[in-house]
Amino acid sequence: MTVSIRDVATRAGVSVGTVSNVLNRPKAVSDATVDRVRQAIDDLGYVRNDAARQLRAGRSTTVGLIVLDAGNPFFADVARGAEDAAAQRGLSVLLGNSDERRDREDAYLALFEEQRVRGVLLSPSSETLAAARRLRDHGIPVVLVDRTAPGSDFSSVAVDDIRGGSIAAGHLLEQGRRRIAFVGGQRSLRQVADRFAGAERAVAKVEGAHIERLPTDQLTVLAGRDAGAEIAARAPEDRPDAIFAANDLVAVGVMQALVMMGSLRVPEDIALIGYDDIAFAQSTVVPLTSIRQPAQLIGSTALDVLAALADDPTRAAETIEYEPELIVRESTGG
Ligand code: RIB
Repeated sequence: MTVSIRDVATRAGVSVGTVSNVLNRPKAVSDATVDRVRQAIDDLGYVRNDAARQLRAGRSTTVGLIVLDAGNPFFADVARGAEDAAAQRGLSVLLGNSDERRDREDAYLALFEEQRVRGVLLSPSSETLAAARRLRDHGIPVVLVDRTAPGSDFSSVAVDDIRGGSIAAGHLLEQGRRRIAFVGGQRSLRQVADRFAGAERAVAKVEGAHIERLPTDQLTVLAGRDAGAEIAARAPEDRPDAIFAANDLVAVGVMQALVMMGSLRVPEDIALIGYDDIAFAQSTVVPLTSIRQPAQLIGSTALDVLAALADDPTRAAETIEYEPELIVRESTGG
């Protein structure tokens, strides 16, 4: 049998309004009464029906966040930034992981619409934003995270990945490397396509330099390890002298294959740079050079933009783009 707020009030010998105050505005109630009500809640096992409360309040206090890969520390940091900003506004964040799959992304967008969340932060798995548009047309704002959408009618918060790719390849070229391999991901993911495009631009400016692509199905350590093993198995003259990994997880896998499983040296034989600068990039067997994204700032800024849109749906869309930052460590000779 479901325990109601009335049962708690009877058990504690107070009114339903006092129980509501203890739950929502405990500072408005004496300590003794708070203790008595909380004891009654524990004794009866009462759990507040937040969905009903939010419906009565007319506005949800929950925000949906859909990330591409919940296993990637970059998105954990984005989520942390969003949660910190949400908490300052009395909001909570529900996390969904699309695994870069459209069907899962669409399922989470539908779930968040059913929940009538206040808004959704979305790191999109594809260029198609039809489901996100439908949500917005039904009055639930959507802000794109980790992907810019200039010229589109969505607000977005991300890093300039073309510039990030150009900085990464430019750093390798400055180290004298001329045979660069871009490893990881599929071009269907805008982040990967932009990083490669930026690297191509940098390489095109240097006489005798060239870049090859080694795509992988996923942006994971295992995918990086397989790509690294393929490179290590090549004849020396066929190997690149530098690798730009599409993100740090791929770079960690590449490094395992080259250094720990192969007999190659980083950076002496092959320089290696990643992207994101996740926390454990600096503690890899050869500390990893990377392109830093301000992940927590991306998350908190996206939440702030979403909250403003929820308060005023007529706000113009805004594209917020942060600068990527080169963090040099031993894996490129730093
Ligand atoms: O999910 C793919 C990548 O895109 C992440 O590693 C992060 O770099 C994001 O921008």
